[in-house]
Amino acid sequence: MKALVTGASSGIGYDICIELYKRGVEIVAVGRNKQRLKDLQSKIGCEIVSTDLSKRENCLKLYEDVKNVDILINNAGFGDVGFFTETDLEKELLMIDTNITAMHILAKLYLKDMTKNNFGYILNTASIASFLTGPFMATYYSTKAYVLKLTQAIGYEIKKQKKNVYIGALCPGPVATGFDSVAGVTFSLKAISSEKVAHIAVKKMFNKKATIIPTFSIKLGCLAGKILPSRVVCFFTYKSQKKKKS
Ligand SMILES: NC(=O)c1ccc[n+]([C@@H]2O[C@H](COP(=O)([O-])OP(=O)(O)OC[C@H]3O[C@@H](n4cnc5c(N)ncnc54)[C@H](OP(=O)(O)O)[C@@H]3O)[C@@H](O)[C@H]2O)c1
Repeated sequence: MKALVTGASSGIGYDICIELYKRGVEIVAVGRNKQRLKDLQSKIGCEIVSTDLSKRENCLKLYEDVKNVDILINNAGFGDVGFFTETDLEKELLMIDTNITAMHILAKLYLKDMTKNNFGYILNTASIASFLTGPFMATYYSTKAYVLKLTQAIGYEIKKQKKNVYIGALCPGPVATGFDSVAGVTFSLKAISSEKVAHIAVKKMFNKKATIIPTFSIKLGCLAGKILPSRVVCFFTYKSQKKKKS
């Protein structure tokens, strides 16, 4: 099998590449940082593509250049922290382009091929944030809600079409990666390793689990997000995000 993994130059995506490699999957690793992609290549001998997925034309080119993909790991993404009136508009638009638009384009194009072949796996990296309302990190939480809702809706359509194609959402809580420094935060909750998240993600993806929440405490957080009134969720997420700001 052949996998295309975005956000492969560090963190969760990097470790997902290693997990897939251990299972004998051929990998195309995508990121912007060439040196980190080369480091991965020297470890697992994967193909690498250095491209900025916040640009639509690069997403379309990636699809044209990389064909016969059996597994798409749509994982590239980042966050930002602060009051909506104070955060940088340009950075947020890039976040929307990366977390939403790139994920959307790649999911659509590769899913069409997978549907034709009646085979394939798509795993979209969402977050615990997908289940919550996130004041002080409003844009990031909203992008991840989009990822989860789109994934669930497509998953239902695939079932109705009776296709042998999997689509699922990976919803971790805090993971020790480059995410916090890019977002300008320090985690207020204990972060788990990206190796652990990647191991669980790949195993559950092959078991066709639709929503993958790696740890029990984060499952409780997701449940709270589903059942508590939005203003109560906001109270806790705001408090937790404020604490994170470095
Ligand atoms: N860490 C957490 O606590 C956590 C929790 C829940 C969900 N997530 C999600 O997990 C995913 C992976 O994040 P991570 O925690 O592993 O953080 P990370 O170590 O910072 O990795 C982010 C990856 O996304 C890539 N990326 C970012 N912008 C890109 C762009 N414009 N074009 C191409 N690639 C881009 C980065 O590559 P380059 O830097 O090489 O461009 C990097 O490989 C993200 O979607 C994040 O939202 C993270």
